[in-house]
Amino acid sequence: MIVEERIVYLKDDGACLLKTPEEDGETLLSYLKRINRETDFLNFTREEVETVTAENEAEWVRGYRNGKSILIGAYRGGELIGLVDCTIPSLFKTAHVGIIGVSVLKKAWGNGVGTKLFEAVFEEAKRASVSVLHLEHFADNVRAHALYEKVGFVTCGIFRGGVKKSDGTISDVVLMERAL
Ligand SMILES: CC(C)(COP(=O)(O)OP(=O)(O)OC[C@H]1O[C@@H](n2cnc3c(N)ncnc32)[C@H](O)[C@@H]1OP(=O)(O)O)[C@@H](O)C(=O)NCCC(=O)NCCS
Repeated sequence: MIVEERIVYLKDDGACLLKTPEEDGETLLSYLKRINRETDFLNFTREEVETVTAENEAEWVRGYRNGKSILIGAYRGGELIGLVDCTIPSLFKTAHVGIIGVSVLKKAWGNGVGTKLFEAVFEEAKRASVSVLHLEHFADNVRAHALYEKVGFVTCGIFRGGVKKSDGTISDVVLMERAL
């Protein structure tokens, strides 16, 4: 779906535009490559991300724009600085459960972008009849866990050894949930 655009104000009082990204594969690809260089808490390895193309990214955005799931980009001065997505399954039995993913460029961390993206996605997911949200994070991702608790998620389980970091270290995956 295409969400209604909104302007929000960050902790530094700067304005930030929240909207569904255009089908601009190059912008999304450069964001993905940059965020993947800045953190090892996303699923791609450095090598895997190099196989992604601008067309793959355009196709990814198209899926959200033309479907029921939600993708919201945070833009500052025209630059994409953060993304949240809420995947909504199409099958009746699970269509009330949204699965969340979020990322913010390192230079914008701690300025409230993640929090604003969550506030927006909560509104849009409710509008789409989602009543439960699920997410997961690598167990050592302290910053993400703090954000998730702050916006109302609670830990509901752990997948022991659920992820292998880029250096080969095995880590747990924490599962969190929130009612809407
Ligand atoms: C996790 C992430 C999305 C947070 O985004 P953000 O824009 O920095 O989040 P916010 O500024 O809204 O901060 C939210 C909360 O995080 C917590 N936080 C901020 N800095 C922190 C730090 N250094 N250590 C621990 N918690 C911290 C605080 O509780 C903060 O809320 P508060 O400032 O109101 O107290 C961002 O750091 C990121 O993209 N990281 C890399 C990718 C990633 O890990 N994605 C999640 C994968 S599961």
